[in-house]
Amino acid sequence: MEKHYAVIGHPIEHSLSPGMYKAGYEAIGVDAEYHRFNVEPNHLAEAVEGLCALGFSGWNVTIPHKEHILSLLNTLTPQARRAGAVNTVKIHEGQRIGHNTDGEGFIRSVEGNLNGFKGKKAVLLGAGGASKGIALALAEQGMKVHILNRTYEKAEALVQVIQREGGTATSGVFAPGDWLEDVDLLVQTTSAGLHSETFPFSVKGISDRALVVDIIFNPSETAFLREAKKQGCRTLNGLGMLLYQGAYAWEFWFGGQAPVEAMRQALKEQILLL
Ligand code: ATR
Repeated sequence: MEKHYAVIGHPIEHSLSPGMYKAGYEAIGVDAEYHRFNVEPNHLAEAVEGLCALGFSGWNVTIPHKEHILSLLNTLTPQARRAGAVNTVKIHEGQRIGHNTDGEGFIRSVEGNLNGFKGKKAVLLGAGGASKGIALALAEQGMKVHILNRTYEKAEALVQVIQREGGTATSGVFAPGDWLEDVDLLVQTTSAGLHSETFPFSVKGISDRALVVDIIFNPSETAFLREAKKQGCRTLNGLGMLLYQGAYAWEFWFGGQAPVEAMRQALKEQILLL
């Protein structure tokens, strides 16, 4: 029987998820359809009821619903509970289960470029929802995490969450500093740069050992990544994270291994069309 999946968000028209999953279904012959729904924040509860009533088997959740959807679900996986956010829902025996694959997806996207995580130093720029999932996952891998944010209180609040989970974390405001010399992984998680503006912050002087990641994937190279490259750093955009959070969501829904190469190819083709 054909199954139905979807992504819900607002705005949603530029989501690359439908193309990525459809390519996956085709690659290994899964009888499923993937839809895209624009859900305004004040209609989230009705949308969730509607998806259940229509017999959807699961869906992805994106901005701005990742936190608000928590109270509409029956169960959360440990990953979703820790992150306080859900990016994947599965309907299992009538129960709505919330999961979060963003952290794991990020880890998978960088691990091939880092020689292990334990004891190394990660600096995250930003302390919003995206930063939280990534920071918790990195701390869980044993990295020392330093959070810098425009609003210091939010960085400090995130540090408290990481410490409660047993991780090592410190906070600061956006400013160059000693951390530039010993950072192993620098991650840009803010929305600054999304509209091609210059990042309010320079990485001049950063160690060329550092791997620098911007979770933005469109534009494929932000001004921030260009500057890091000029400093001799290896760089990655957010496409890998998008791919692997999707692959883990697939595995949560269907079990087995996701057809990662078909999904990667579909993302690349869509990016070229943007
Ligand atoms: P997301 O879920 O994508 O992380 P969010 O929770 O709204 O979105 O968080 C946005 C992050 O981008 C925050 O860290 C925000 O900084 P503040 O906490 O100070 O608001 C950061 N941000 C957004 N626009 C920014 C800008 N122009 N300069 C610096 N930081 C910015």
